[in-house]
Parts: sequence; C-alpha cells; structure tokens
Amino acid sequence: MSYSYQINSKEQYDAAYQRSVEAPEAFWAEVAHNFQWRRKWDKVLDWNFAEPHVAWFAGAKLNITENCLDRHVAENPNRPAIIWEPNDPEEHHRVLTYKNLYDKVCQFAHVLKNNGVKRGDRVCIYMGMIPELAIAVLACARIGAIHSVIFGGFSAQSIADRLQDARAEYIVTCDGAFRGTKDIPLKSVIDDALIACPFVKRVIVCTRTRTPVSMIKGRDVWLEDELKKVETLGLTDCPAEEMDAEDPLFILYTSGSTGKPKGVVHSCAGYMVYTAYSFVNVFNYQPGDIHFCTADIGWITGHSYIVYGPLAAGATTLMFEGVPTWPDASRFWQIVEKYKVNILYTAPTAIRSLMGFGLQPLQGYDLSSLKVLGTVGEPINEEAWNWYNENIGKGNCPIVDTWWQTETGGMLISNMANITPGIPAWATLPLPGVQPVLVDEHGTEIEGNPAAGNLCIKAPWPAILRTTYGDHERCRKTYFSTYPGMYFTGDGAMRDAQGNYRITGRVDDVLNVSGHRIGTAEVENAINMHAGVVESAVVGFPHDIKGQGIYAFIIFQGLHEDENLTRQDILQTVSRIIGPIAKPDKIQFVTGLPKTRSGKIMRRILRKIAEGETSNFGDTTTLLDPAVVEEIAVGKL
Ligand code: WT7
Repeated sequence: MSYSYQINSKEQYDAAYQRSVEAPEAFWAEVAHNFQWRRKWDKVLDWNFAEPHVAWFAGAKLNITENCLDRHVAENPNRPAIIWEPNDPEEHHRVLTYKNLYDKVCQFAHVLKNNGVKRGDRVCIYMGMIPELAIAVLACARIGAIHSVIFGGFSAQSIADRLQDARAEYIVTCDGAFRGTKDIPLKSVIDDALIACPFVKRVIVCTRTRTPVSMIKGRDVWLEDELKKVETLGLTDCPAEEMDAEDPLFILYTSGSTGKPKGVVHSCAGYMVYTAYSFVNVFNYQPGDIHFCTADIGWITGHSYIVYGPLAAGATTLMFEGVPTWPDASRFWQIVEKYKVNILYTAPTAIRSLMGFGLQPLQGYDLSSLKVLGTVGEPINEEAWNWYNENIGKGNCPIVDTWWQTETGGMLISNMANITPGIPAWATLPLPGVQPVLVDEHGTEIEGNPAAGNLCIKAPWPAILRTTYGDHERCRKTYFSTYPGMYFTGDGAMRDAQGNYRITGRVDDVLNVSGHRIGTAEVENAINMHAGVVESAVVGFPHDIKGQGIYAFIIFQGLHEDENLTRQDILQTVSRIIGPIAKPDKIQFVTGLPKTRSGKIMRRILRKIAEGETSNFGDTTTLLDPAVVEEIAVGKL
C-alpha cells in the first residue's frame, strides 16, 4: 500500500497547503477518495462557526472499521496490525495480524450485540492497555455504538459523572490493570461508580490480573464466557453497520476552565480521513514501519495515533501496557530494540523523567531502527528536545513537535518528518487544511510577522469536534464565542518571521500536568469537598518533570495540630473525587485569598507566589484587602 496523499517534499507541502486553503473541498475530496465508502458524499463541506455547524462528506456512508480492517485484510491479511508488549518484560508479547484483529473485532462486536448494545448506544470502556481495549473500541465502531473511553487513572466519582452525562448503559472493563509495580483494581472502581448509576444494564469484564472481583447477578458477565457463546453460535464475521459520515464515532471527556469535564464528540468520516492523513504525513510513514506511540488509549493521542490513524493507514502499531521506568528506565529502549521500532511518539514529561536517569539506561541498546521521533502534549523545552535529539535520535532523526488537542481530533501544527524542518521548542507550520491565526484580546487578527497572541483557527478541518455531548450550547460558548467566527484553542502562541508557530501554553484556567489536562475549577471543587475546607484556589507552577505542577491555596477551618495529616486527607479527597493525576503537588494553608471587590480571585498574584515571587505583584489596588497578599507571600517562606 502506498498513499497517493503522501507528501514527499517541501515543494509538495507548499503546494498542498496552498490548495487546501484555496480549494478546501477539492483538496479533501482527493484525499477522501483513498478510503473505502459504501456511498460517496453529496457535499464535501458545509459549515458555519456561529451555531457551530460543521459537516464533512455529508451524505456519505461508511464504516471506519472497514477502512481500518477489511480493506487491509483483503490486501495484506498477515501484516501485523497490533504488536502488544506487556507490562512485565518476562511475559509473552502478542502480535495480531490484520486478519487476527478483524476476527477478534467481529467476535467482540457479536458479544456487544448479544448483550443488547445497539447502534447509537454509548459504551463506556475502562481498561488497561491490553489488545482487548483496542478491540473493544473497534467493536463499538463496527456496530455503530459510540465509545467513551475513560482513562484507567480516573476515580469512581469521575466515572459516575461521565456515565451519567453520556447515559452510558454498557461498560467494558477488566478485573484489573498492571502498570509498573501496581495492580489497579478496575472492576472494583467500576462497582463503586455504579452505585450512583443504576441505569447501567451490563458490565462485560475481561480478565487480566486475576484480581478477585464481585460479579453482580444479572448485570456483570465475563468476556471469556460471552466469547464462548459467540463461538458456539457459530458467529464469525460481523457485517459493519453502515454509518452516516456525520454520525458520532466517540465521546472523549476533557477538562475546561469551568465546570465538569465535557464530552468532546468526534464523528466518523472526517475524523477517519484526517487521522490517517496526518499520521502518514507528519511521521512520514512508510509501509512496513513499526509505529510506537507511548500514550494511553484513554487519551486522544491513543485514539488517533495508536488506534484509528495507524490502522486506517494499514500500519503496524505498537501498544505498550506498562510505564517507562519499570522494571527500570531502559524499558522504552528495550522495546525499541526488540521490535525495531521506526517511529517513536512520546511526551515531553516522559523525556524529562528519563533524562533524570542519565545515559546509563541507554547503554547497550540498539536504537538504530529509529527514523522519526515525535512529541506531544505540552510545550517541549529546549533541553529535553536536545537530549531526545542527541541521545535517542543520535542526531539522525527528525523530531516532530505536534501541537493539537482533544477537540482537534488530530495534529494541527507540526513540522513533517523529512519534509519540513523542526526547530527546538517550535511546533512550526500548520498541516494542509489548517488555518491558524493569532488574535489580540479584542479579537482582532494580528497580521504580519513576527507576532504573538491567542491562537485561533479560522476554518474547519475534517477532525474538528462537532459538539460537546448533550450540550451544544456549551460547545458554542467554550470554543466559538470568545472570538466570533473562529475556533478558539485556549492556547497562546508566537509566530516568527517565517510563519512558524511556537505554542506558549494555555491562556485559560486549564493546567497541563504531565501532558494531562486538568481544570483548576475541577481541582478546587474536589478540595472543597473536604469537610474542613472553607475555600480554595488552585494555580499551576513550573515543574521540572511534569511541566506544570498543581499548587493549592486553602483556607481551612480548625487546622489540626499536624498540618501534614490534613494535607494527606486533602490529597486523599482529590484522589477519590477526580483521580491521582489531579493531586496537588503543594498545599499552602492561608487565612484569606486575594480577591477583587467584586469577589473574583486574582489568580495572577497566586501564580506569582507559586512561582516563588515574594514581591513585585503589580497593581494590587483593586484588591479588597491588599494585606492578604503579603501574608500569603510571607507564609510561603
Ligand atoms: C493542550 C491539549 C493533543 C494530545 C495531547 C493533549 C497542549 C499539546 C502541544 C505541543 C505545546 C501542546 C496545549 C493544548 N499541547 N501539544 N506540541 N506544544 N503545547 O491533548 O489533553 O486535549 O491538551 O495540550 O496547551 O491546548 P489535550
């Protein structure tokens, strides 16, 4: 298989980009002709950002799994689709060819159907990184059910919120998950979540850790038993449901600056075309290459660049169950050598954490198979970029710095391996079809270079979110109302004289901790649940490994003699309400918070204090009680 849409030179990139802006419909139609459709579209693109309404390939019929599986089974049934490396290097790995994967997805699709799942139903998937997770995702897509994958680190409360929001009546989970030395009891977390979700009809449980679980009669079933039933019934192939281009494919929850996480909705056709297109072009994927994305499928990176993008392109994708530092910090390099990985796509936080172990863990590992390196999730600092380049890429591998978001479905700004040059800490140029603009605080586009401002996109690309589940108005307000007529990313950026972009980070109250998005309001709500907490304010601060850490200022009533015990209690509360990823790194007890006369917390000041500043807070005259600032700043010492 070769890709007629593969870009092979800078000239081709320039031409593709120009055409994508001048004639977007013709441009994307040409790309889309490379996929398998039951029926082609009536109209390539219909949109307005006021509602917002975006429809790509309207009128077309397809099933994304026919593109990820059937057509490759027909051409290359024995090509590896998924290589799976377990947490424990002593355990056997698994290789699923396209034919194996197709068979398993069909069987799983039958299991879902036999358990009552129908087209349009929401299925929550809460599993560790085992092949059955990818299989469950694809099985949902096969029958037109909408999957909502929840990362295995989220708490019962977070799961319950998401199940209720999506009214998901079906769950696929595991007894437990292995991650490093940990054995996470997934089924037991689900059981806790379901106390608040009596509407859930069925829980399908896959075995992995053999942790004891309680199976509730009439509700819970073992995947193994269900697969046996399917086999006994002689059910093998499962015809793919014919979906409309704009039917929802999945929901993925992500944090914003206010309220509870929102369910970002992606639809079938545009998402498919864009993830495959961006996968092939950004990584310069060549048939036969082994692609290793270290993300978890619980995040958008895993959806788009472990599952859908690579499989739609007929690639070989490597799934890793464990963590980079167990049994030791050479785990990634051992995997690269073992499978002769060609493309490695990871996060700056992982690179920084591995840097901390020095070069010894690299000793003796052959990394010569690597051709392309990638990074995603947060701005990469130059030091980490240089380390990655010198020690992993040996100065020979382009590093693609890919900027995108859960909402964008795929990479929007990135250099392209072997096509456009990388610049340390710069995401560089937009992909074809992407029109970034920088705007000032009034929403006026800043033209000319260099420039700095808030990053917006002024026209839709095929994988843009379509709505936030159950609340279209929230989608409009969050992304399309700040700067009317444009999609607002929430990020700030700079543009150099050549038009390259450097993403400087969120300009809203969203934190990026180890590449995970967490809303300050969400963390505050969780902290405020603790009985003694009167009020709290959460800000980010620079953290050597995580990129950003979480700093909480808390007013606490009746502080215990042992402040640390109270701190532990609060951390425990946050873990229960959201999950361990949202635990504050620092907690400072205070007697007041800097508020304006209208009652708004001046986070700007708290951010400075969290960064270690003790004076120079700028204008504090609008504060109700300026003395409080001094007190907090001094309290820090
Ligand atoms: C936010 C989106 C896209 C998958 C992972 C995160 C930040 C992401 C980069 C990058 C600088 C980046 C942005 C963005 N971000 N990639 N290459 N350089 N910042 O997805 O959880 O939706 O978070 O991550 O701030 O808005 P997400």
